[in-house]
Amino acid sequence: MMRIGTRVIHAGLGPAVQGEPFLGGVTFAGPYYASGDPSTSRYTYGRGHNPTWTHFERALSELEGGIAVSFASGMAAVAAVFGTTLRPGDVLVMPSDGYYTARLLANGFFAENGVQVRQAPTAGSELSQLLERAKLLWLESPANPGLDVCDIKGLVEAAHKKDVLVAVDNSLPTVLGQNPLELGADFSVASDTKGLTGHSDLIIGHVAVKDSALAEKLLVWREQIGAVPGPMEVWLAHRSLVTLEMRLERQCRNALTIAEYLVTRSEVSRLRYPGLPTDPSHKIAVEQMHYYGPVLSFVLADRAVAEKFLRSCKLVIEATSFGGVHTTAERRARWGGDEIAEGFIRLSAGCEDSQDLVDDIAQALDAM
Ligand SMILES: Cc1ncc(COP(=O)(O)O)c(C=O)c1O
Repeated sequence: MMRIGTRVIHAGLGPAVQGEPFLGGVTFAGPYYASGDPSTSRYTYGRGHNPTWTHFERALSELEGGIAVSFASGMAAVAAVFGTTLRPGDVLVMPSDGYYTARLLANGFFAENGVQVRQAPTAGSELSQLLERAKLLWLESPANPGLDVCDIKGLVEAAHKKDVLVAVDNSLPTVLGQNPLELGADFSVASDTKGLTGHSDLIIGHVAVKDSALAEKLLVWREQIGAVPGPMEVWLAHRSLVTLEMRLERQCRNALTIAEYLVTRSEVSRLRYPGLPTDPSHKIAVEQMHYYGPVLSFVLADRAVAEKFLRSCKLVIEATSFGGVHTTAERRARWGGDEIAEGFIRLSAGCEDSQDLVDDIAQALDAM
């Protein structure tokens, strides 16, 4: 098999055809011409299937090592996993420090409809002690925004012994940074709004599974709920995927450089980056990650200092989300919902020149 840097560029493309582009154009369709027996083509109505989705999902499937289903957003992908697996009376085990909106959905709609939600921190061994009679173990590693990691393989083994399905939210590392299906998970879930597409111009997500029965359930869910991605978004996502390895390599190098610089600044405390050898997450991260991701976090004295820092940055853009080619940062506590300090900053390293980024962060810290 070719190496990942090659596979990501060719993923989903068929054999070259004389006079045709490498990546075919986008197909916009509501209904397709479908005369007579509708079972003769999968392309009958655009909520069910679309050739642009087919190409992109083939690419994702190749990279994930499973069957990928594309969704309208990361949250549509999360909801599809919850919705196809959890019924009233079932138990969902999830991290207390994972992505806030996934916890809101679990503790809101699903808890209100009879699903019992058990939560424990990503770090440590508590999650594995909550698996008795559970249906689904939800993991997010590294967790957003605290950047703790968990031993995915170990937790999958513990969960499978008890017949518990395992899903991993892999938005932060992307499939190139970490492969949940290879680590034994049943579902690999991602907001592709983040690093996978990486240009801050799309909302899109996907789920990948090994088991074709689970894939079928996800397809039925998508068609009936209608959480379908727009064909233009999917085409742009496929186009963006081609540069994923290059972007990720650069982002991770920049993230490490920034982290190494921040270590030297006395204004900064509780710096976290799984790629730093001194980070509490590093030991497990080395075992299961190929890239440590673009995201790092740190704490400044208080809210006012953090806000001043962000305002003083000239290159680093104050914005939410992560994984884009532009370096962004935000004071995460402005949203609420996470147990973090008022001065907690989440920074996502982009693809700019490392020295320019360090210079910008240095002058912003000096300005305080
Ligand atoms: C870890 C994680 N999972 C899921 C999502 C949801 O993705 P989307 O915004 O594409 O719906 C996000 C968005 O920030 C996220 O950070």
